[in-house]
This record gives sequence, C-alpha cells and structure tokens, in this order.
Amino acid sequence: MTTEARPDVVPAPFAAPSTDESGWKRRHLLDLDDFSVEELDLVMRTTDTMKEVLSREIPRVPALRGTTVVTLFYENSTRTRTSFELAGKVLGADVINIAASSSSVSKGESLVDTVKTLQAVGADVLIMRHNRSGGPYLAARTAQCSVVNAGDGLHAHPTQALLDLYTMRGALGDVRGRKVVIVGDLLHSRVARSNAWALTAMGADVVLCAPPTLAPARLGEALEDRLPPVRVETNLDRAIVDADVVMALRMQHERMQGGYVPGAREYSRLYQVNTERLARANPGALVMHPGPMNEGVEISHDVAHGLQSRVEEQVTNGVAVRMAVLWLITRTGTKQARAAAKGAL
Ligand code: CP
Repeated sequence: MTTEARPDVVPAPFAAPSTDESGWKRRHLLDLDDFSVEELDLVMRTTDTMKEVLSREIPRVPALRGTTVVTLFYENSTRTRTSFELAGKVLGADVINIAASSSSVSKGESLVDTVKTLQAVGADVLIMRHNRSGGPYLAARTAQCSVVNAGDGLHAHPTQALLDLYTMRGALGDVRGRKVVIVGDLLHSRVARSNAWALTAMGADVVLCAPPTLAPARLGEALEDRLPPVRVETNLDRAIVDADVVMALRMQHERMQGGYVPGAREYSRLYQVNTERLARANPGALVMHPGPMNEGVEISHDVAHGLQSRVEEQVTNGVAVRMAVLWLITRTGTKQARAAAKGAL
C-alpha cells in the first residue's frame, strides 16, 4: 500500500527544533572542550526533536535533502558509523561510506588529498574517524565542508559524549550534582576525555577511576583550563560509593600485552563493574558502556544486561544525537547555507 493511500502514515513535515538556533555558530564538531552549557543544552533539545522524528511510523524527513554526508573511517566502527549513516538517511541526505582500507588511502593518498578529493565530489559534511589524535582537526583546516570528529586516536569522541549525556539526562533529569564514575583505561580513552568535558560543564561530579598505570599523569589538575575539574581515584571500591552513574570503558586487548596491567584476570578482580561492586553505588545507579564491551573483563555479563544497564539505550540515542549534530552543523556549514548567507539562493 502506498503512503498516498494511507494519509495516517505520510511523514509529517519536519518540525524544526523549537529552539533558537542562532546560538549555534559551529561549522565543525571536533570536541566538546570549548562547549558552553547553552550549546550542550541546544544539542540536547534538538535531540528531543529528532527522537520525535524517529518515533514516527515512517521516520524520514527531507531536512537535509541535497546535502551529501561522507563517512570516512580510518578505524573500525559499528555504532558510530552506522548511526551517522542512519541519521543522515532519516534526514534525507545522500550518505556515502568510505573505509580508508578500501579507498585510495591504501595506495598512499594523504589525509589532506583525500579530504580535497571528497570535497571535490561534493561532500558537504565529512564524518571522520582517525587512528591519530588530531586527524579531524587537520581535515577541518583543509576543508570547505563541515568536519565531524567520530573519534580521533586517544583524544576525543564528542558525539559519544553527547549521547552519553543525553542518556543520563533522560534517566536522571539533570546531571548537576550527580556523581558519575568512569572506570577503565583512561590513558587511551577518547570517550572518557570528551565525557569529562561535557559532564563537568553541566555540573556533574566526575570521578575517573583507573589503575595508576592507566591514569594519565596530572589528570586531576586544572592545567590553565585545559583539563576539566575531575577527581581521580585508583580504587574502584571507593570510587563507586554513592555513584549515580557507573560507566565502564573498554579494556583493550592490545593493552593487555602492553604491560599496563598484570592481565585480564587481575584487572577484573580490581576494576570490573559487577553486581557486588554495583551494590555500593546508589540504588538504581545507571550502568553505561560506550561499547564494544568485553563482558567478563571490565563489566560482568549480568550487569551489562541487567535492569540498571543503559547500554542499548545509549546506542539507540546515538542516532538521534547524530541527527541533531548533522542538523545543527548544516545550519552553518553546507554549501547551501554558505550560498544563502551570500544571498545566492
Ligand atoms: N562507541 C563507539 O565508538 O563504538 P564503535 O567503535 O562501534 O563506533
């Protein structure tokens, strides 16, 4: 049956966010380290609107029709790449996915030349994951199009932190004054860094917990505002007491061989988020994990899939958050927006 025959399932016209988008000035999204509370609030409110779009029987709107979104991933991904692709498609954009391993990157093409090439074929938004910290920053310096950081090396993963914040706010109402414990391999975690910026900006009490070998030096110090005000704790049994949110980070197998910890079993004994430890947190504390999870290492199977787990909700919210990001940055970043700003449309 066609949609013409069923007016009840014709997608409603895109309801523009009822927020004042004049507060949005960014062409790129590279990290959250300089985000204001107002900007974070705007992303959260825009995500609410996108959730409503996703709840429709036919979740498709033409908001980004004529916009080309390219995902360029130099590292593997399941959640981030898929949810950006879906976010673009729901909003009516053309979405092209490129894995660096199957592109001319494998023939030696440089990052800058790759960005210029994608721009030349019409990319308006480049979603980039790079194994080197700073890769998307270099792209943003080169590109006329918008660049969104989908995770760069050890540095930042801003859309993950935005979806984490959205998930926490959905459950807690407000994160101000809430104790959020992030436990795991802080040294190599771009998720922890971006979360620390967003959560502290919103007034959460952020406690970062790791073995001393996996906690960056000077993490708890405010270095001329270049580090957010977090507390650092190396004992999870202490850190988790009265937590409202417990977020476990992926313990990367490759680190196990790097001599950072004696081994997976010893790490789990001291740092695994399991039922016994979770009992020390506040009743009903949220359990989160950015994924992919090593069940039985940083998180036990029963906690990962238990009543307090928000892991699947995080993934689901990732689509709406990335729709919000695409919508907001294309207010300022697309060729249409630039042309309109010049009076050419
Ligand atoms: N959380 C996250 O970035 O997952 P993917 O690597 O699957 O994108």
